Amino acid sequence: MSVDFRGHPMFPPGFNSPTRFEADVYDCEVWGEIPKDIEGTFYRMQCDFEYRPPENEWRTGFNGDGHISRFRFANGSVDYKGRYVKTDRLMAERKARRRLYGVYRNRFTDDPSVAHLNRSAANTHTYWHGGKLFVLKEDALPWTVDPHTLETLGAWDFNGKYTATSMSAHPKIDPVTGEMIAYGYQAKGDLTDDIAVYTINPQGEIVKEVWLKSPYLGIIHDIAITQKHILIPVIARTTSLERLKRGEPMWEWNGSLPTMVGVLPRDGDAKDIRWYKGPARNTLHFLNATDRGSKITMELPTSDGERDPSQIRRWTFDLKSKRDTFGEEVISTTPGLLPRMDDRFLSLEYRYAFLSSRDPSRPADTKRAPGMGPFTSNVLQRLDVRTGELRQCFVEPVQSLQETCFVPRKNAKDEGDGYVMAIASNYESMTSDLVIADAKHIEEGVIATVKLPFRLRSGTHTNWFPQSVLPPIKDEFV
Ligand SMILES: [Fe+2]
Repeated sequence: MSVDFRGHPMFPPGFNSPTRFEADVYDCEVWGEIPKDIEGTFYRMQCDFEYRPPENEWRTGFNGDGHISRFRFANGSVDYKGRYVKTDRLMAERKARRRLYGVYRNRFTDDPSVAHLNRSAANTHTYWHGGKLFVLKEDALPWTVDPHTLETLGAWDFNGKYTATSMSAHPKIDPVTGEMIAYGYQAKGDLTDDIAVYTINPQGEIVKEVWLKSPYLGIIHDIAITQKHILIPVIARTTSLERLKRGEPMWEWNGSLPTMVGVLPRDGDAKDIRWYKGPARNTLHFLNATDRGSKITMELPTSDGERDPSQIRRWTFDLKSKRDTFGEEVISTTPGLLPRMDDRFLSLEYRYAFLSSRDPSRPADTKRAPGMGPFTSNVLQRLDVRTGELRQCFVEPVQSLQETCFVPRKNAKDEGDGYVMAIASNYESMTSDLVIADAKHIEEGVIATVKLPFRLRSGTHTNWFPQSVLPPIKDEFV
């Protein structure tokens, strides 16, 4: 059976066709000067496709094989490595030399030969915690890879103590305690309404487990934490057994459902959760949350409906009020679905969001960005969530930015003292760039661009971990 992606609606010819290769680039080409106080590794996930998926696959393509890139920075130089996560799923398909898995999170569409295998595509996000680099996909347990060689080390269930069947790709690491708050939803198997929340100590051991019931079968892609609470938003994208039996991908938007946000005290139990209600909101990711006396605030990118442009808004939860609704205000109308922050201030008082966005007054190469449309991002932004002040830096019109990541300057303490980094698809060269700007002086423009000699597909999430927390480098090239 030949490998042939021609004519598939998810792969119009161009930048986002499957790449299907692994690479090493020692001492990457750099235009500009990389500051020497960037020391650590920028990780980045993408979905790629070894074999042709079914035609009715979700157009965003989150069902592709996980491919991890690492850009390792030291002394003004960058070394690149890209590897597939060698999941059970990828290896079974390679052995069969054909697609065995069906559409997004739908076992009814799988080949019977893989019914007993771990279904994770390990394609969404990376976290370094407790001495392990986790590669996460929300419908399964984590996979782990070596943080330097990217060799796949296997699936991880915390020595059998993680009893839920899934762990989301968006755990939160408390910068004060070093704990990781992780969770799984549909946590007793597909279509179950169970949520499991875990507290994992800095050594990587589970020290607390709380089981909850979801108000309805909606997506719980991300959470937020404060120093005292865990916020669990259930979003109006839902599913059903009937839908899966019809052979459809898991989710469909249902604007008649409410947004429900569970507020769970970190030192509490299932009985202590309080659910707040609001109108349907189209969102998946949450920027940050903060305790403010008897209130909690949470900032997030969201839109009212499925097709509206996103805005940065603030939701407020009043712990003293008897009302079961949350308040909402707009902080900025700048679009951008994946704002990030200085994670050293996660759960705390903070000021800045960093995002890739779109300034319609400036050109963007929408013609050569097939299917990207409003997601063709042409500016890196720093948003002050207290005042709404927006500063931004334009990239080349032939570049389309993906998720931004904040990188603290080595040994810096102040919030936002560092750099913003993002992968950009370069439609002129048909290769990928990593652009870097000074976060405090973002309006001064890109200070360095790492030039890869090949193309990466559109990515999912990025993360940064300083060399000070990663294992010593044993470099295979020197
Ligand atoms: Fe995500």
